[in-house]
Amino acid sequence: MIYKRYTVTSALPYANGPIHIGHLAGVYVPADIYVRYLRSTDKDVVFIGGSDEHGVPITIKARQQGVTPQQIVDKYHGIIKESFKEFGISFDIYSRTSNQVHHETADDFFRNLYNKGEFVEKFSMQYYDEENKQFLADRYITGTCPHCGNDKAYGDQCEKCGTTLNATDLINPRSAISGNAPVMKETRHWFLPLDKYESFLRHWILDNHKEDWKTNVYGQCKSWLDQGLQPRAVTRDLDWGVKLPSEIEGAEGKVLYVWFDAPIGYISATKELTPEWEKYWKDKETKLVHFIGKDNIVFHCIIFPAMLKAEGSFILPDNVPANEFMNLEGDKISTSRNWAVWLHEYLTDFPSRQDELRYVLCANAPETKDNDFTWKDYQAKNNNELLAIFGNFVNRTLILTHKYYNGVVPELGEINENDKNTINEIHAFPQRIASSIENYRFREAINEMMNLARLGNKYLTENEPWKIFKTDENRVKTILNISLQICANLSILCEPFLPFTAEKLCKMLNINQQKWEFAGKTDLIKEAHQLSEVGFLFQKIEDAEIENQVQKLLDTKKANEEAAFVAKTAKTNIEYDDFAKIDLRVGTIIEAEKVPKTKKLLKLKIDTGIDQRTVVSGIAEFYEPENIIGQKVSILVNLAPKNLKGIESQGMILMAEDHDGKLCFVSPTEAVKSGSEIK
Ligand code: 2FM
Ligand code: ZN
Repeated sequence: MIYKRYTVTSALPYANGPIHIGHLAGVYVPADIYVRYLRSTDKDVVFIGGSDEHGVPITIKARQQGVTPQQIVDKYHGIIKESFKEFGISFDIYSRTSNQVHHETADDFFRNLYNKGEFVEKFSMQYYDEENKQFLADRYITGTCPHCGNDKAYGDQCEKCGTTLNATDLINPRSAISGNAPVMKETRHWFLPLDKYESFLRHWILDNHKEDWKTNVYGQCKSWLDQGLQPRAVTRDLDWGVKLPSEIEGAEGKVLYVWFDAPIGYISATKELTPEWEKYWKDKETKLVHFIGKDNIVFHCIIFPAMLKAEGSFILPDNVPANEFMNLEGDKISTSRNWAVWLHEYLTDFPSRQDELRYVLCANAPETKDNDFTWKDYQAKNNNELLAIFGNFVNRTLILTHKYYNGVVPELGEINENDKNTINEIHAFPQRIASSIENYRFREAINEMMNLARLGNKYLTENEPWKIFKTDENRVKTILNISLQICANLSILCEPFLPFTAEKLCKMLNINQQKWEFAGKTDLIKEAHQLSEVGFLFQKIEDAEIENQVQKLLDTKKANEEAAFVAKTAKTNIEYDDFAKIDLRVGTIIEAEKVPKTKKLLKLKIDTGIDQRTVVSGIAEFYEPENIIGQKVSILVNLAPKNLKGIESQGMILMAEDHDGKLCFVSPTEAVKSGSEIK
C-alpha cells in the first residue's frame, strides 16, 4: 500500500527522571532516523513526542520530596525536552500530558466510549490505607512477589522477575505511604472489555502482521492473545491525572489510568501541532508507526488499538517496531539505582559529540535482543569506525583537493574499469539503505552507510593519487572528483543517522543539504566548485575521558552497595557472666610483617600492656605493614593460642567489617594506655 502521509510517535517518557541511553537506543534514535529519512524523501510526516506526566511513581516521588506532582513534572519535562533538542531528536512537537489540550482530548475520548456503553462498570474490593484515607493503586502497594519472592514487588508488577501482578496477588501487602497493612474496601471502576476485542485483535495482528512486525513484538502479542484477554480497569482512585467527567456517578476522587490517557497524548500533541490533525489520525492513507521499548508492547499493540477500535474513527498502527533493552556495563539500566548514562550529563561531559553517541547507540541497537553499552566500546566505535573510516576518508579527500587544487573541484576525465565499478557501487547505496530503514533495520542501515565510506577509503588506497600527482595529473583529477562525489553522497546518506556530521560535511563541501533522491548520483558536486575550509568531522576520544566515565559508574556502584547495606540481625542473648569471661584490652602494634606465602595474613607484635605478644591477623589485603606501626587496637588477650602457618598466634585483634568486606581497626578515639580494659 502506498501511503500519503506518516504519523510517527515515540513513547512518551515519564517525567519523573531524565532521559538515559536506554531510552535513546530503544526508542528515540531509531524513531529520529526513520523520520529524518522520511523527510529527506519528501514525505508528509509528523513526529510526535511528549512527556507522560501522570501515574503513581510521579506522585510517590513528589510525596518523598515534599513537593507537588506538578513541580516534579515541570522539572523533568524541562530537562527532557531540552536534552532531546540538543541531541537532535527532531520532533515536530514535544508536548506534555499535564496540559489542557490533553486533558480535554482524553476526557472526550473517555466520555465518548462511556456514552457508547463501551465500558463495563464494576464494584470490587481494593486495598485501602486507613491512616491516609486513600485507595492504594498500583505502586502505592508493595509486598512479596508470589512468583520470585522479591519483597519489594509493586501492586502492578514485580520488577525483579518482570511478572505483571494484581495488588491482591502480593504476599504481605503494605501501603507504600504509611507502611501499614492495608484493609479491603469496596470501590467502583470502569473496565475496557478487552475480551470483546480479542477476535478482532487476533485477526488484525496474528493473521495480518506475521510477516511485517518484528518477531519479538509479534511473539509478545501472540502470547497475550493466547492467554485470553480480560476486561481491564481504565480508572483509578487517585487525585493526580485526568479527572473523570464529574457528571458520571461515582466519578469523584477518580482519574483515568495513566495507560489510558498516555497514548491519547499522541493524539492531543498532534492536535496541538496542527489544525489538520485529523488527517494524521483518521485517514486510511496515513501510516501510523509507534516507536517504543519492549515493556510497552502490550499497551501499544493490544490495549490502545482496542481503545481506538472502540472509538471507531481512528486508524490503527501499521507497525510497532519495539526494541529490546540496552544494558549498561553488564547491568540493567535503572533510574532508581542511578545506573545509567544520563543524556543531559553526557551532553555536558561531551559537548558537540551528539553524533558519536547516536552512532554507537544505533550500531549497537537492541533490535533483536538486549544489548550492552560499554564505555570501551563507545571509545572503540568512535576511534576505529567514525574517525578511522568516515572521518579519515573525508579528510584525505578534502586535504588532497586543497593541496593540489586549492579546494576547487577538479574535472572528471577519462574513467577506467575501477572507476566504473566504483561509480556503479555508489549508485546502489541509497536504495539499500532506504530498504533497511523502511524495514526498521537501523543497525543494518547505518552499517551500509559506513560501507560507502569504506568504499571511499578503498578507492583512494587502491588508486593512490598522492603517488601519481607528478606523473599523471589527469588521473589524479578524476580520482579526486569521484572521491568528492562519495563525500557528497555521504552528506545525504548519513543525515538521518548523524545529522550534525551531515551539516559539518555540507559546510566543508560548501553545498546545501540535499534530499535523498539526489543520492546515488555522481555529479553532485560540479567541476570548478569551490570547497570551504577543511575541519574535523570527528575527534579521537582519549583514554582519560573514558576512565572518568567508568569511574563515575564505579562510584555509583559503591554508593548503591552502601545504600543497600542491611545490618545482620543480632545473635541470641547471652548472660553477663558469659561476656565477663572475655578479656579485652587496648593494645599497640609495635611490629608488623607479611606472613610469607600468604595473601591475607600479617604477623603483628602487640604491646598489650601486660606483655608483648605475637598475633597473626587476616588484614594484609587492607593494610601495609609499615603503615600500622603505632596503631591502637582492641585485642582479645585470653583467647587460647593457635598455630597459624607455623606461627603461634597469642590472641586476636578486633576488626569491624564494612558492607563491602573491608576490615578496619576498632580502636579508642582518645589517648588510652595499652593494657586498659575494654568493658
Ligand atoms: O514506559 C513509559 O515510559 C511510558 N511512560 C510510555 C508511555 S507511551 C505512550 F503511551 F504514551
Ligand atoms: Zn517476582
